[in-house]
Amino acid sequence: MCGIIGAVAKSAITPVLEGLARLEYRGYDSSGISILANNEIKTIKAQGTLSNLKQRLLSQALEGDCCIGHTRWATHGRANVTNAHPHQCGQVSVVHNGIIENYLQLKQKLIQWGHHFNSSTDSEVIPHLINHYLSQQMTQEQAIKKAIAQLKGSYALGVLINGVSNNLYAIKQGSPLVISQGNEGAYMASDAMALGADSGKIYYPKDNELIKLNSHEITLCGGANNNEIHYINNKHCAKLVSKGTRSSFMEKEIFEQVDLLKRLSVNNHTSEYSTINFKDLTKITIIACGTSYYAASVAKAWFEKYANILVEIDIASEYRYRSPIVTNNELAIFVSQSGETADTLAALRYAKSKKAQTLALVNVVNSTIAREANFTFEIYAGPEIGVASTKAFSCQLAIFYKMALEAAKQRAFIEKAELTQLALNFAQLPDTIEKVLQRCAEIKSMAKKLCKYSNILFLGRGALTPIAQEGALKLKEISYIHAEAYAAGELKHGPIALLDEHMPVLVIAPKNALTDKLLSNIQEVQARNAPLFIIGDKYIREHIHLQEDQFFELPAIPESILPIISVIPMQLLALYSAQILGKNVDQPRNLAKSVTVE
Ligand code: F6R
Repeated sequence: MCGIIGAVAKSAITPVLEGLARLEYRGYDSSGISILANNEIKTIKAQGTLSNLKQRLLSQALEGDCCIGHTRWATHGRANVTNAHPHQCGQVSVVHNGIIENYLQLKQKLIQWGHHFNSSTDSEVIPHLINHYLSQQMTQEQAIKKAIAQLKGSYALGVLINGVSNNLYAIKQGSPLVISQGNEGAYMASDAMALGADSGKIYYPKDNELIKLNSHEITLCGGANNNEIHYINNKHCAKLVSKGTRSSFMEKEIFEQVDLLKRLSVNNHTSEYSTINFKDLTKITIIACGTSYYAASVAKAWFEKYANILVEIDIASEYRYRSPIVTNNELAIFVSQSGETADTLAALRYAKSKKAQTLALVNVVNSTIAREANFTFEIYAGPEIGVASTKAFSCQLAIFYKMALEAAKQRAFIEKAELTQLALNFAQLPDTIEKVLQRCAEIKSMAKKLCKYSNILFLGRGALTPIAQEGALKLKEISYIHAEAYAAGELKHGPIALLDEHMPVLVIAPKNALTDKLLSNIQEVQARNAPLFIIGDKYIREHIHLQEDQFFELPAIPESILPIISVIPMQLLALYSAQILGKNVDQPRNLAKSVTVE
């Protein structure tokens, strides 16, 4: 992961610091900048969030027209100042996103050549290698290329060199990188969202294209033709997001879901979805990670039930390494909020190599996954800043619901009247979500009681099992309470052994054909003295007597849209538990928003 940024512009430190603020979602355990000022490179770094770096910079008046910056998510070496980027060797300073797999061999070689290392990172070998080749009278371009040729792994680099001429270079292999030529300068960054208002036009470099940035010009090195740089509009340009009056981005994003769903129910994107020929498909495979994978699990239930299509779902990191079978006429859907998740991207490349039709379902429309898939559908969630995904999940579900209905229409599997009713159900989403959010105080009371426990079991059935899994994931991510989720029917096959008065169980309990079976599961929980919490239908409340703060009544709504509604109390439960426990909701430990390493 990690975020990198560079600028060649007047007062280059300003766009770099602004960019780092926008990139902090990629990692926030340390940050740093290098700036070319008065003919020398100055590097300043700090442990912890960007505010610590800004504090350090207050005492220094740093002016210069060439600057690089980095916000880190530790892979090699602890999160401390020494391991923070940029890494400098002589007059070469480097910011790196990715992993250099052969760094130990390279380090050994460099030590033999007389180099001394400060950090335990893989990245530090890069400035040392470049510096070594510069000392052998190579040009800057030759030195960078020679160094790069020895790296194994993935990288996006910003390289600042103070020499006969002062230059900023950018290059990538496998990791995301974007370049922009603005009116006031030239910029490079890990993603377009990091770039400010002066970056309306962007270019996504190819692997191993070495690019030199000047304030007035961007050049492809090695005699390549600059006409090869094809700029596109930066759709994310200058969209600076604030959390407004909310206590955290996550809270803001949870409450934003009403408007987002309103927009999705008004906008009729069905013509977009009809570009897919669902009629002749033999199979849909949906591949994703984390929360996006749980959206895929719900989608499977909808596609199967309403369109009678065979659907397989897979975790991207498993799919990419297990030689999956791609059939003729298969649609492989890749779900990713960021569009940059390394495992999902690798899975997409595998499916493409096996000639599957590929479709990206993303929030970031210029992302690598979006650019590489045959089709791309946007989820229209807007920038999601909170590390724990919330609004992207409900928007992913909303788009999947619409796609499933389009598939149902094309395959004529259900009656027209039922199809019409399912479409009408969708229109109930915004108001119903609003009603649930208005009752957030009830969830807060539940959180107060629940967050006293160190372990929690979540149960669901059918399309609500992934919602239970998502609820457990949200809770552990931001409150650090250990939570696991199971299909309720699985309880008796093992997890029931855990139940006692210290192991609470939270059940999502709707009124449907399986309610009586679920009631039996609930009885089994109560019989073992496990504290019981229910997010469920009124009918369940009539059968199971619980205290006010142990039952949250779901609004009476059609079953088809229940997954989208029932995740809302789950998100609130995680949010309030984390707040009560005093955790950093938006920047939970060890996590980053965009997972661009394996
Ligand atoms: C959980 C969360 C992660 C992501 C996962 C995939 O709150 O955000 O589990 O869902 O890392 O990320 P994307 O969707 O960007 O591919």
